[in-house]
Amino acid sequence: METKKVKINLSYLRPNSTFIYPLFSEEGKKILDERIVLTAELIKKITARFGNFVYYAEDGKRAVIQEGKLRAALATSHDVLDEIARTSKLSAEKYHEAERLVDDIIHNLSVEHANVINLIKDLKSFDDYLYNHSVNVGLLTAVFAKKIGGFSDHQYQSITLGAYLHDIGQRKIDKQLLHKQGQLDVLELTKLKRHPQLGYEILKDLEDSNETVLQTVLFHHEKYNHKGYYQLPYENLPIFPKLASICDIYDALTSPRPFREEPFTSCMALKAIVNSISSHFDFTLVSRFVNLMGPILNNDRPIFAVNDICELNTGELALVKGITPGDILKPQVVVFCRFVKEGDRLGVKHYNEPTAADLATENKRVVKKILNNRKQVDAIQKMAKERGLL
Ligand SMILES: [Fe+2]
Repeated sequence: METKKVKINLSYLRPNSTFIYPLFSEEGKKILDERIVLTAELIKKITARFGNFVYYAEDGKRAVIQEGKLRAALATSHDVLDEIARTSKLSAEKYHEAERLVDDIIHNLSVEHANVINLIKDLKSFDDYLYNHSVNVGLLTAVFAKKIGGFSDHQYQSITLGAYLHDIGQRKIDKQLLHKQGQLDVLELTKLKRHPQLGYEILKDLEDSNETVLQTVLFHHEKYNHKGYYQLPYENLPIFPKLASICDIYDALTSPRPFREEPFTSCMALKAIVNSISSHFDFTLVSRFVNLMGPILNNDRPIFAVNDICELNTGELALVKGITPGDILKPQVVVFCRFVKEGDRLGVKHYNEPTAADLATENKRVVKKILNNRKQVDAIQKMAKERGLL
């Protein structure tokens, strides 16, 4: 069986944790037997002698944690946190901000949900991408829910847990199909689309599961335009799967995948999410995501720049002229043309009098898309320049 060296950052470790494997130094010297309680004093001693990082060798066998073994469960959830740090999705500073927000959720989860946490760990031996993706979506959704606020402690835990487990049903799908490159045929697509249902089946009888977790797993592929996996009416669904779904898309876009050369940058992914308003997500959810999560994910850089071009719900195009602090999707703009149908083609009709509009105070116009096709943007900017708008 394949053995994997797993790095542990001692500075993230909560005192009185234990590991189910022996710990080693970087040079391979055994530091500690398995299941020894790492007290604050012991962590300090190990750090002084071996530095911040220690390792364990994972042999792929299922990490057995007996129910009620609080310390082992705590160690497991810290493994999960450690994975988040190693995926480098966030800058160190932003990671710590996120960590503070979710730490209490994770801590309580590990106490009460040892069985379910084990399911997440199980994913690691099944598929690395799926494991990392699950951990990232769990973290992002926890932070997003905290940023929105207003949920009870129990709801935060359930939202996080549901997000960690959203793709657990893929555990039951043939790996070859999960990793297939190129287009899937109808039968393959049908099989893949069963994963929310399969996840629900895995979790429904587990004591630690609940309605929020099950709804998140079952409905995370539903869409605003009712064209999701089960084509359910989006407006009637609870908010939990919607939060996980937007984080799911963000992580999928920004992760390296064999079928594309480069992952999206944070900014590109946030723009892509804006551009799925009215198809995948509703305006309010996207607005909350880009306003609350955008600064964390894009290191405080706005996703709009002055003279970017956006399409409005009215079919008009507008040049961005100013950003509204705290409400990125309501910029000040100059509306200068609108799309018109010319036979089969879509053309633009320029206004004789371009109109300045502040979308923060105007209700009629709403941002629908940020144009991101470079050639198209260059051509439209050139036209705008000729009309003295740039
Ligand atoms: Fe999924």
